[in-house]
Amino acid sequence: MTMTFDFSGKNVFVAGGTSGINFGVAQGFARWGAKVVVASRKQDKVDAAVQGLKDLGAEATGFAFDVRDYEAVAAGLKGAVDFFGGSIDVLISGAAGNFPARLMGMSPNAIKSVVDIDLLGTFHVMRAAHEHLTQPGASVINISAPQAYLPMAYQAHVCAAKAGVDMVTRTLAIEWGGDGIRVNSIVPGPIAGTEGMARLAPTPDILSAVEKSVPLGRLGQTDDIAKAAAMLSSDAGAYISGVVLPVDGGWSQEGATSVMSKAAKFMDKMTGQGS
Ligand code: NAP
Ligand code: COA
Repeated sequence: MTMTFDFSGKNVFVAGGTSGINFGVAQGFARWGAKVVVASRKQDKVDAAVQGLKDLGAEATGFAFDVRDYEAVAAGLKGAVDFFGGSIDVLISGAAGNFPARLMGMSPNAIKSVVDIDLLGTFHVMRAAHEHLTQPGASVINISAPQAYLPMAYQAHVCAAKAGVDMVTRTLAIEWGGDGIRVNSIVPGPIAGTEGMARLAPTPDILSAVEKSVPLGRLGQTDDIAKAAAMLSSDAGAYISGVVLPVDGGWSQEGATSVMSKAAKFMDKMTGQGS
């Protein structure tokens, strides 16, 4: 059965929406009739993503900014509402950075770069977006990761940052509930063909082990995440707020921990790190 939603007349902003999972989410909303704005650091990626959304028939534009720069984020969001000619109905915040390294393999600046992009960037997007959100009615979704609640070697920076992201989600569900704004996190499982998986499962063997460790027996597709975001943002999600929703084929129940500790052993050999 083909899954379909109707977001015609709705305005969707996707921070970090120019590649991978977040671009897949932007494409989903574009197919389902929304006007879509994407943003990330690199102008060439923004331009290519916007063209991809237009190719799907959507009205779309994009802005280049770094989520670590609050003023630039605020300017991008202002540009988006000018383009929409109205408020933001669905806000997806998914800009993130990741590289595999043990804590002792990271400089202070390496730790800071990931915490600043993932966690501070989320704060920035949330804070700058609030005045532009449809009130009541907006759906805000932060893109988290299993590292938020499953400790993984080589991922201390991401584990801490994404745990923080989920607490921002849960706190804003309380603070913004009175404005009629719902705030949720989606936790993607291992998603095929993405930069995140290329970095965390860098060989075909590791990727195959990851796939086998998913109870549903397959890697996720970006469209799996798009459909979950659409469900949360549609009337079906009207009473859902403050939820941290794994969309992972069951991976975080058990497989994620065991397979990523095997991947860590490979990375020990590859990087010369490890105890
Ligand atoms: P990706 O393709 O690298 O997506 C990251 C996006 O964020 C890109 O559009 C990137 O574009 C943008 N970005 C990075 N740093 C930024 C910054 N400082 N300011 C603004 N934009 C920035 O990676 P992905 O694997 O699809 O991951 C997408 C999201 O899913 C992330 O939040 C990740 O933690 C989460 N996730 C992924 C997986 C997976 O299987 N891949 C699993 C769980 C969770 P620019 O380079 O142009 O800035
Ligand atoms: N191991 C250890 N440290 C690393 C590293 C690695 N594999 N890769 C980068 N770093 C360090 C750098 O050496 C630098 O530290 P230093 O100044 O002390 O040398 C620090 O991290 C910042 O790197 P830089 O390249 O200057 O940062 P940036 O802001 O341009 O990029 C990153 C941020 C590092 C997260 C980069 O990987 C990125 O842009 N990622 C976006 C895409 C992505 O990660 N996608 C997957 C999402 S899940």
